[in-house]
Amino acid sequence: MATTGLPHEAKIPARRVSIARAEPIADEASSITNLREAAEGCRRCPLWRHATQTVFGEGPDDAKVIFVGEQPGDQEDLAGKPFVGPAGRVFDAILDDAGVDRQKVYVTNAVKHFKFEPRGKRRIHSKPNAGEIQACRWWIDQEFDLIKPNIAVALGATAATSLLGKAVPVMKMRGQVIEREDGLRVFVTIHPSFILRIREPADKQAERDRFLDDMRKVKRLMAA
Ligand code: URA
Ligand code: SF4
Repeated sequence: MATTGLPHEAKIPARRVSIARAEPIADEASSITNLREAAEGCRRCPLWRHATQTVFGEGPDDAKVIFVGEQPGDQEDLAGKPFVGPAGRVFDAILDDAGVDRQKVYVTNAVKHFKFEPRGKRRIHSKPNAGEIQACRWWIDQEFDLIKPNIAVALGATAATSLLGKAVPVMKMRGQVIEREDGLRVFVTIHPSFILRIREPADKQAERDRFLDDMRKVKRLMAA
């Protein structure tokens, strides 16, 4: 299966996967604003207890693409907005390089409350578990039902698990499109924080370049 040199979206190999999902509550009268308000009081899993607030998705209702991250980080938890911290800055810069306008895309997270371990004055990010990812699918499914994007982008393993209903090897699947049984096309790539964590400058640049290449593919997939 080709992962690079994508000449045309029609040539992207699509695998079909089935996914069990909850009945959506979104209907004609729903909007992202209504959903965001409803999610403020969500108690579907225990993560709301220690977080500052629900960090819902952001972007236009008619976005052609939905980017799905893992969960809000420390800065997102305080700001109430997705991808505004260090990972968000890397993400924004690379989207910009790829010619994708962040104002025109919808950005959300698989899990909408910050999960952390207190360590002195700091709050250390902690990975959401399968139950939390599944609980928060309630919101993701409705964001997709309302926006109906041409393409979904799973940024990293948690997002891929949420969107595909099972764990997938991100490094192996990266750059590929997987088609769900309901027709949603899911483009799998790394999480931008992976780039941040690489220390060696040449390796960091190489990974940034690969992610930029992925974002260029996403730009083409948005149109189809
Ligand atoms: N990482 C994520 O996955 N999402 C955010 O919103 C911020 C950092
Ligand atoms: Fe609800 Fe998701 Fe927050 Fe859990 S993480 S309480 S499911 S919004």
